[in-house]
Amino acid sequence: MSAKAPRLVRLGVLASGRGSNLQAIIEAIEKQALSAEIAVVLSNKQEAVALERARKHGAPAVWLDPKPFAGRPDSREAYDRAVLEVLQKHEVDLVLLAGYMKIVTAVLVSAYHNRMMNIHPSLLPSFPGLDVQKKAIEHGCKIAGCTVHFVTEGVDEGPIIIQAAVPIAEGDTPEILAARILEHEHRIYPRAIQLYAEGRLRVEGRRVLVADPDAPAAGFHDP
Ligand code: GAR
Repeated sequence: MSAKAPRLVRLGVLASGRGSNLQAIIEAIEKQALSAEIAVVLSNKQEAVALERARKHGAPAVWLDPKPFAGRPDSREAYDRAVLEVLQKHEVDLVLLAGYMKIVTAVLVSAYHNRMMNIHPSLLPSFPGLDVQKKAIEHGCKIAGCTVHFVTEGVDEGPIIIQAAVPIAEGDTPEILAARILEHEHRIYPRAIQLYAEGRLRVEGRRVLVADPDAPAAGFHDP
C-alpha cells in the first residue's frame, strides 16, 4: 500500500498589483517544490494582474470591491469580515499578503494568528511602509533586502521568519534596487511557506524559531 500523501497547505493570497510573488509561488507549486496549493487569490483591485495569474493557474480569483464598504465608521473591519468569509469558504490554512496594499485589521489578524505572512522589500525593522528602496538609498545604506514575517496589527512589524540581504551599489536607482530585491523575494517567500508546511516554524514572543535551520526546506536549495 502506498503512503498517503501529506495534506497540502491551502493558501489564500491577497494581492493588489502585478503579482510577481504570487507567480513565484505558483511556479514552485507547479514544480511540486511546495507542499501547498492555491485555495483562492483575492484582490481589492479589479485590474490586478495577480487575479489573471490565478485564473491561468486554474485557481479561484476573487475581486472584492472596497467601495460598498466605504463611508461607514468600521469600513476597514467590515471589508476584512468579507475577506474572512471568502478565505473561510475556500478553507484557507495560511494567508499570504503579496503586494497587498491595504492595511489588514484585527478581524483578519486574530482569525489567522501566526497563520498570515507578509513579504516586504526591506530589512525590517528598518524601513516599514512605502517607497522603501528609495528611502534605503537616500539614507546611504550599503545593504538592503527583504523580509518575510508573520502579520500582526502593526504595519510591517510582526515576527521575522526569513530575511535576505541585498547590496546597494553606487548608482542604483530605486527601480534597479527594487528589481534586485525582488529576485530574492521570489526565493524566500516560497521557502517560508514550505517551512510552515513542514511544521518547522515556532513563534516565541518576537522570535520565530526554525526547527533544523540548516536543512533546506524540501525542494529549495539556497545558493
Ligand atoms: C513586492 O516588492 C513586495 O515586497 C511589496 O510590494 C511588491 C509587490 O510585488 N510589498 C510591500 O511593500 C508591502 N509592505 P508583486 O505584486 O510583484 O508581488
